Amino acid sequence: GGPEVAALVASRIVDVPDFPQPGIVFKDLTPLFADGDAFREIIDATVAHYGAGSFDVVAGIEARGFVMAAALAYAAGVGVVPVRKAGKLPRATHTAQYALEYGSAALQVHTDAFVPGQRVLVVDDVLATGGTAEATLGLVERAGGVVAGLTVLLELEFLGGRARLAAHEPHALLRV
Ligand code: PRP
Repeated sequence: GGPEVAALVASRIVDVPDFPQPGIVFKDLTPLFADGDAFREIIDATVAHYGAGSFDVVAGIEARGFVMAAALAYAAGVGVVPVRKAGKLPRATHTAQYALEYGSAALQVHTDAFVPGQRVLVVDDVLATGGTAEATLGLVERAGGVVAGLTVLLELEFLGGRARLAAHEPHALLRV
């Protein structure tokens, strides 16, 4: 259940001080992804939270969201769409500028990435300020998708990202 999965996620996170900049404590989730039993549990818990059949496609946010997205899509028997940093996708795209906890960037999705009305589960590893997720939800809607949910492994509550996503209540396996 929820508390067990949260404890599992917490146990596999490594705090890295001053990465990528002084003053930032980076949450390294690579030990969680590298543990096969833990990885299966977080994928299964996420699919169970939404219910297989409640979404038609998974959209993963570059780069760590891709790890989750492909596994979630496979587990649920649906496809996966990449939301990428600007300049990576080869065909016509929608673009959203966004601010990061550190710096700024732009995300893109192919304009024809979704069948109109397709229910899209958006996934990333971490919800911090919410800028990345907010930009992605806008891209999904501009590309004709319907947001079925937003799920992350870890939510950093003190950064207040949830308040920017009020229309789409995020699901987080662990909130700190
Ligand atoms: C990190 C993280 C989320 C985002 C969260 O990605 O993986 O995508 O920041 O921050 P926010 O809620 O404040 O927007 P990053 O931009 O570092 O990209 P990467 O996964 O490609 O390294």
